[in-house]
Amino acid sequence: MRTLIVYESQSGSTKKYAEDIAKAVSADLLPLKKFKAKVIPDYDCIVFGGWVRGAQIMGLNDFLAKYDAMEGKDVLVFSSGLSPASEEGRKQLISSNILDLYHVRYYQLQGSFDYAKLPLKSRLMFDFSIKRMQSDPETDPLVIQQLVTVKNTPINFYDQAKVDRIIAVINKLSLERATK
Ligand SMILES: Cc1cc2nc3c(=O)[nH]c(=O)nc-3n(C[C@H](O)[C@H](O)[C@H](O)COP(=O)(O)O)c2cc1C
Repeated sequence: MRTLIVYESQSGSTKKYAEDIAKAVSADLLPLKKFKAKVIPDYDCIVFGGWVRGAQIMGLNDFLAKYDAMEGKDVLVFSSGLSPASEEGRKQLISSNILDLYHVRYYQLQGSFDYAKLPLKSRLMFDFSIKRMQSDPETDPLVIQQLVTVKNTPINFYDQAKVDRIIAVINKLSLERATK
């Protein structure tokens, strides 16, 4: 089975996940900006990974704009965010990204965060989110405290178990295609 991994990454953690998965399943790898509809017929399985900003999986809309051309393909999506993976968090991301409209397998991964290395725009957005939460009585103070902590301390949550899971699924789909 021919597999393509497409990714959208700001500070590298999504790219690292995409690279590791691509290496393990011998897939081709493309940043989203180089992903064109004309390459889709070359693949049986297409995986998209995007980082999360304000509960939106970045690049997902551009990727899914080509969804009609992926008819009959196996399509997997993963996100790389700061929030810990959980059933509730996964459901929220599916809902806020309207992922349930599509026939895709979705995996929520935790990425990495290094405030000092972010572009200015992202640093300002991050600061603004903290300020907004601080003025919202509904926000759990623990969440704010965690965000302030990660702002001051680079952190990497590389999720090997999820990477292994995605690799296993791609290999299983490949086997299914080969025996069809
Ligand atoms: C402005 C901004 C907003 C973010 N919003 C979220 C969010 O809503 N949920 C989340 O889980 N992570 C959020 N993050 C954390 C990133 O998704 C996380 O650091 C991710 O691993 C970055 O991936 P990358 O290294 O591929 O760019 C945010 C980060 C920034 C800079």
